[in-house]
Amino acid sequence: MVLSTLGVDGGTVLGMAAIEVSSLVKDYGTLRAVDGVSFSVAPGEVYALLGPNGAGKSTTVEILAGQRAATSGDVQVLDMNPDNATRDWRDRVGIVWQSGGIEPEMRVREVLDLYRGMYRNPLPTSAAAAMAGIEDSLKSKVSTLSGGQQRRLDLALGIIGDPDVLFLDEPTTGFDPTARRRAWEILDDLRQLGTTIVLTTHYLDEAAQLADRVGILVHGQLVAEGPPDGLDLGRGRTTRVRFELDPEVSLQGLNLGDEELERSGRTITIYTESPTKTTYRVTEWALVKRFELSGLTVDRPSLEDLYLDLLDETEAAATAVGAASNGRGPA
Ligand SMILES: Nc1ncnc2c1ncn2[C@@H]1O[C@H](COP(=O)(O)OP(=O)(O)OP(=O)(O)O)[C@@H](O)[C@H]1O
Ligand SMILES: [Mg+2]
Repeated sequence: MVLSTLGVDGGTVLGMAAIEVSSLVKDYGTLRAVDGVSFSVAPGEVYALLGPNGAGKSTTVEILAGQRAATSGDVQVLDMNPDNATRDWRDRVGIVWQSGGIEPEMRVREVLDLYRGMYRNPLPTSAAAAMAGIEDSLKSKVSTLSGGQQRRLDLALGIIGDPDVLFLDEPTTGFDPTARRRAWEILDDLRQLGTTIVLTTHYLDEAAQLADRVGILVHGQLVAEGPPDGLDLGRGRTTRVRFELDPEVSLQGLNLGDEELERSGRTITIYTESPTKTTYRVTEWALVKRFELSGLTVDRPSLEDLYLDLLDETEAAATAVGAASNGRGPA
């Protein structure tokens, strides 16, 4: 598989990382859910794990948070193996689970107070509730909260211990757009305060907004890693120039260099390393031909585009390898 690392100069200096994972493996019976994953997260860094359902994101986070034992490999969080977690270590680590198992009959304030009591230097209950936007539901029973309100409570429980390292497994799933923005602001505030954050998400705009670096897990393997706007996946650093044109109209006279051009229905897309020159050539051509270029855009592929491309490539590579090893594919 391809591993592309960009924008990080050789990773983090040994001993400086808040989180150091090397060759992590987790088997559930015969299923290898995490298959030799290595990465590190610097103090104060926000790292997002992305990947399709079942890729091993939750398993990885659970191991980092000391909730699940690894099959093999080495994990250090705040210079400690989470398996040997001490009270001091737990005090410095906060967790927001993908599915919280909170006692439904308790009231929100009681749950917050209970969790608060487990930490040495917690935030005031009202502050954690306000940060997570659950302050109006303090008297409600957990069972009566909406899905999004429960996730807010999960978030409040994750931050109430004022952690140095915070793990969040799909923290904003089920949030309405306002709540999501608010959660982003909270995480941004925590980052300003120097909290190291590892989150998983299926929202690529969330990863692009929050993360300093993303790691993409597919079938338990880290297939790419880098800053969200700098993942080098073939076309990753090229710019797209797009416009609409009737399918009958010829592109004759449009002089591009060796830029790749795609024509699909009415949409023309040109991939270019020199957007200024390409845009100039396109508009000059259109002026001479007296075309109005409707829908002319110049942009870079989003993290979502890169991610989907990468998954396609990874699947194609896996299929090719599978076919070859079956003796049916090309040698
Ligand atoms: N407790 C368990 N026992 C057995 N298999 C498990 C267990 N937990 C997870 N798995 C399996 O391990 C694989 C990885 O699961 P995991 O929950 O880590 O994926 P994920 O990336 O978090 O997926 P999602 O995006 O759906 O949350 C999956 O195939 C899943 O079925
Ligand atoms: Mg998960």
